[in-house]
Amino acid sequence: MSAVMQPQRRALRADLLDFMAEPEALAIDSAAVRFRPGHWLLIEDGLIHSVQPDAPDSAEWWLEDHSGHLLMPGFIDTHVHSPQLPVLASWGTELLDWLANYTFPAEAQQADVNVAQATAQAFVQQLLAHGTTAALVFPTVHKASCEALFQAAHARQMRLVAGKVMMDRHAPAELCETLDAAQRDCSELIHRWHGRGRLAYAVTPRFAPTSSDAQLQLAGELLAATPGLYMQTHVAENRDEVNWVRQLFPAARSYLDVYARHGLLNERSVLAHGIWLDDADWAALRDSGAQVAHSPSSNLFLGSGLFDWQRARAAGVCVSLASDVGGGLSLSMQRTLAAAYQVQALQGVRLTAWQLLHTATRGAAQGLGLAHEIGTLEPGTVADVCLWRWATNAVAAQRQQRAQNLHEKLFAWLMLGDERDLVQTYVAGRAQNNKAHDEVHDKEKPHAQT
Ligand code: GUN
Ligand code: ZN
Repeated sequence: MSAVMQPQRRALRADLLDFMAEPEALAIDSAAVRFRPGHWLLIEDGLIHSVQPDAPDSAEWWLEDHSGHLLMPGFIDTHVHSPQLPVLASWGTELLDWLANYTFPAEAQQADVNVAQATAQAFVQQLLAHGTTAALVFPTVHKASCEALFQAAHARQMRLVAGKVMMDRHAPAELCETLDAAQRDCSELIHRWHGRGRLAYAVTPRFAPTSSDAQLQLAGELLAATPGLYMQTHVAENRDEVNWVRQLFPAARSYLDVYARHGLLNERSVLAHGIWLDDADWAALRDSGAQVAHSPSSNLFLGSGLFDWQRARAAGVCVSLASDVGGGLSLSMQRTLAAAYQVQALQGVRLTAWQLLHTATRGAAQGLGLAHEIGTLEPGTVADVCLWRWATNAVAAQRQQRAQNLHEKLFAWLMLGDERDLVQTYVAGRAQNNKAHDEVHDKEKPHAQT
């Protein structure tokens, strides 16, 4: 079979790991974990067909023996910004200055359609090259940046939720839109992309400070008008931001309440951060079914604060995990989960590898209402799966050898690993052949020769 042809029936042998339920806190041995070492995952027409210990008939199935590798459902990143890879690791600021100094100037470049298309292609490719097969994404205020993102994901049959960013104040003029333009652009994008293939539209007011009351009202109206839309935004990330929102919206009880008053909270609402919320906010999140996309790497890098996961759990609010690139430092969900562990450790809470991995796969899928499609290795779901090495460097390999049980192996894999462990990403059963590192390496070769 040629490299570009994809078999209709593919069987992958590897160590299969997924979850059947939510793992209990502190449980190293958990019945929620399903580990099937050296099993065959059978994929037919892009869907998971079955799992079995023995190889299927090679006359009927394209067999790939990846014995000794780990296979899991692809990761789900519930909050990430496609135009922000160029501002990764920008020095010396907290949120509001970081936006003004680095992020808004980078996003302004997306006004050029060619730039927007190249950005979208590279971004989607990098998500897959980091083992992320589904994501909730912010492009920019420009309609073409959202269009390009949907096109890039659609071409790969990838599950993606995104929406044009809405902003009409407190940002450079070239990133602000009129009410009419926002109404027109959002409506056109919803009509064209929502529910097409594996795509869904998210109404995306960037955050309260960059939207007028009139624009937030429009966002609420858009959300109410079309069933199944998502809503994504930021909330209570940084203390200066929270104080600013208090000044901008004096009638609102809290930052979260600004969104509640405009009808933006429901079970398909995903709010990033949620560090500086009070008890009434947590109750409002629970009652509306809205969820928080915890972004630990970003919260550490921008000095935003420590997310209180215990409090979210106690309130009965769904929490997912997000890279929040470019506030976060990496698209790697392993790195994101390692940061999440450390943020909780600073507060005396020890998350298990199972809780972390579940949150980034089945848990996120459930929160998004997509568990029938992604997040597990259940037959009938879409075969969005990733194949990983247990270790890529000698230090990690040595640590793996010392592991006494499965939890220790997975925990070390999470804490020490990243996209360099990725062997292959399959989207709807199709091998993507993406490598995050090879491209740069290849580009650098001519220099190495001179
Ligand atoms: N709040 C508003 N916009 C952004 C953004 O782009 N990144 C982060 N981390 N927070 C925001
Ligand atoms: Zn963000």
